[in-house]
Amino acid sequence: MPHVLLTDLDAATMHDGYGLINDAAIAIENGRVAWVGPRAEAPAWTGATRALGGRLVTPALIDCHTHVVFGGNRAAEFEMRLEGASYEEVARAGGGILSTVHATRAASEAALLDAALTRVDAMIAEGVAVIEVKSGYGLDIDTELRMLRVARRIADMRPVHVRTTWLAAHALPPEYAGRADAYIDEVCIEGLHTAHAAGLVDAVDGFCESIAFDVGQIGRVFDAAARLGLPVKLHAEQLSHSGGTALAARHGALSADHVEYATAEDARAMAEAGTVAVILPGAFYTLRETQAPPIDAFRTAGVPMALATDCNPGSSPMASPLLAMNMGCTLFRMTPAEALAGVTREAARALGLADHGRITPGARADLAVWDVAHPAELAYRIGFNPLAERIFAK
Ligand code: NIG
Ligand code: FE
Repeated sequence: MPHVLLTDLDAATMHDGYGLINDAAIAIENGRVAWVGPRAEAPAWTGATRALGGRLVTPALIDCHTHVVFGGNRAAEFEMRLEGASYEEVARAGGGILSTVHATRAASEAALLDAALTRVDAMIAEGVAVIEVKSGYGLDIDTELRMLRVARRIADMRPVHVRTTWLAAHALPPEYAGRADAYIDEVCIEGLHTAHAAGLVDAVDGFCESIAFDVGQIGRVFDAAARLGLPVKLHAEQLSHSGGTALAARHGALSADHVEYATAEDARAMAEAGTVAVILPGAFYTLRETQAPPIDAFRTAGVPMALATDCNPGSSPMASPLLAMNMGCTLFRMTPAEALAGVTREAARALGLADHGRITPGARADLAVWDVAHPAELAYRIGFNPLAERIFAK
């Protein structure tokens, strides 16, 4: 779609609230938004024109936190947790993330790609045009690299942008039991250099938690990322308050994710650093967590809030950003406007992408066209997919 004027639509431009423009038009040139505004003021146009039948157009959605590349599944662990075992107990018993590590190490690149594409297809069907994909189920250099090669291949196989994240500091593999610091040096940092040299890394992440790594260990991974000029983000304060958000803010992180146990002080540090809070209600819901993230403190401090699926086999077996929006509103009282910004503008910010997630001149013309009368409907329904069309500007 190199040159086209889209007309007869309502545009949610997402600068403020919904930024809704009724009876709008959007001019696209060379895959970028050239103009957006009321149809009556549209520029003179000699190229193609398409009428969208009064539909709502938003930026295409962005899933800024996923683990879509993995082997196997964890339905058995789901059953264990329903019988009373906690996520931490399952993890300490060698299940949890480590059971996915066994399945991922055993899977071929082709099998991993195949399985990931089914999840990616579900996201694209809901209007997603950018997906962040983390490593973290290999926990050895070879498998971590294989995961990120698969992540890159997703973008060859499907019309979607992929941002890759190095997450070797996700869990301690059994062969390093009792030697977490050596694992950080020999796999997380060594492997990061190798993966970076292979062009496989867009950002660096970690899991700062009592069942994973502490602030000092994650800090060393972040220092290595900084030396390579790579941005960082962090799974922080998901199950307890471990100091991860403050660490992330000190390192100017793009985002701190989960953040259920973050405090008002953490929120102020994040606001100061420009660190986005990535809200992951799928994991909160699946783990039957009761501590909600401090949404009001984020609002008061001015912390941008993104929303994502956290699609993974354990804590969030969910591939629906629309459901994440609904859960963000129902579980955490985010507004539907915050939810929409959370999967567009703020998700782009959480990935450091300046020209995605908005309908504004110069932005990529990745758009979602919806069969709804009002943008609040996107967060309101459960299990309906009102996407009429996704426009992907290659
Ligand atoms: O984002 N918190 C740690 N990592 C993932 C869970 C991964 C898993 O359980 O497999 C998360 O929730
Ligand atoms: Fe995650």
